[in-house]
Amino acid sequence: MKDYGGVVPEIASREHLKVLPLAIHKALTDAALTTDALDGIAATNRPGLIGALLVGLSTAKAMAFALQKPFLAIHHVEAHLFSPLLSATESNPAPPFPWIGLVVSGGHTELYYVEGIHKITLLGTTLDDAAGEAFDKIGKLLGLPYPAGPQIDRLVQSRATPEHAERFLFPIPRTEKFHFSFSGLKTAVFLKLKTMPTLSVDDRLAILASSQEAIVNQLVRQTSQAEQQYPSAKLVLSGGVACNSRLRSKLLHAFFPEPKHCTDNAAMVALLAALKWKVDPLLRSGLDVTADSRGEI
Ligand code: KG4
Ligand code: ZN
Repeated sequence: MKDYGGVVPEIASREHLKVLPLAIHKALTDAALTTDALDGIAATNRPGLIGALLVGLSTAKAMAFALQKPFLAIHHVEAHLFSPLLSATESNPAPPFPWIGLVVSGGHTELYYVEGIHKITLLGTTLDDAAGEAFDKIGKLLGLPYPAGPQIDRLVQSRATPEHAERFLFPIPRTEKFHFSFSGLKTAVFLKLKTMPTLSVDDRLAILASSQEAIVNQLVRQTSQAEQQYPSAKLVLSGGVACNSRLRSKLLHAFFPEPKHCTDNAAMVALLAALKWKVDPLLRSGLDVTADSRGEI
């Protein structure tokens, strides 16, 4: 990904094809299980890059058919939404429903009101870029390799001062209700950079810290509006951007998954299938289910 400055869909699906059999083998070996022990097979079928989805879905359907196991197709964002449950422990239990669930990843910025596994209401979504995409695109403008989000977080956390974050007051758009918008920020950074033909290390840090501040502040503002509307619901975050340390420090009252459960992972897909099977053990997706690049929960 670093060599291409992002994900190239065709290359990504070919890589999936190469590593998937090895990943399945390794997962079973690490868990000391054979396929006999599996209760069922689940895979993401929507939304996402169609080629990569097809590889995973076809592999999972073939396994379910060959092993005669139940099969369930899972929505990627829905799996993120419930991924915080993977990080719940006895000393740090996940809050009971209702939740205000914020999914912030490279492809999605969505706010949900969650009353249970099967009762999810979409409150808001991004009107253009996703929050992670904003981090990645702004990083790219400053020459950072993909994905830039984690590096911006690390650089700002280790080297920036509060003054860096305050130097450029990038505007936060006035979006309706619980929606988000990040493409204006990317343009504002682009235009600012045009006025600065040479950049000192300090300038770069200030641009990165101020951009991060604008992204985080927008996420915090919209989620706190939702919290006001649903005072009994607990805020729960997920998706790669939920790893961000500035966001975590501004939402200390929220429930965050461990970083390894925030970014894309297969465990969240298995967990959601298990939760759905707990509610309805007979729930199945037909083996004729197809992949879809789009689609709501
Ligand atoms: O959930 P995820 O692994 O994949 C998608 O479904 O998109 O999220 C990846 C996104 C990338 O845009 C990446 O830059 C961003 O999450 N990200 C972060 C951090 N860690 C990952 N953004 C800001 N701060 C982080 N610490
Ligand atoms: Zn994801």
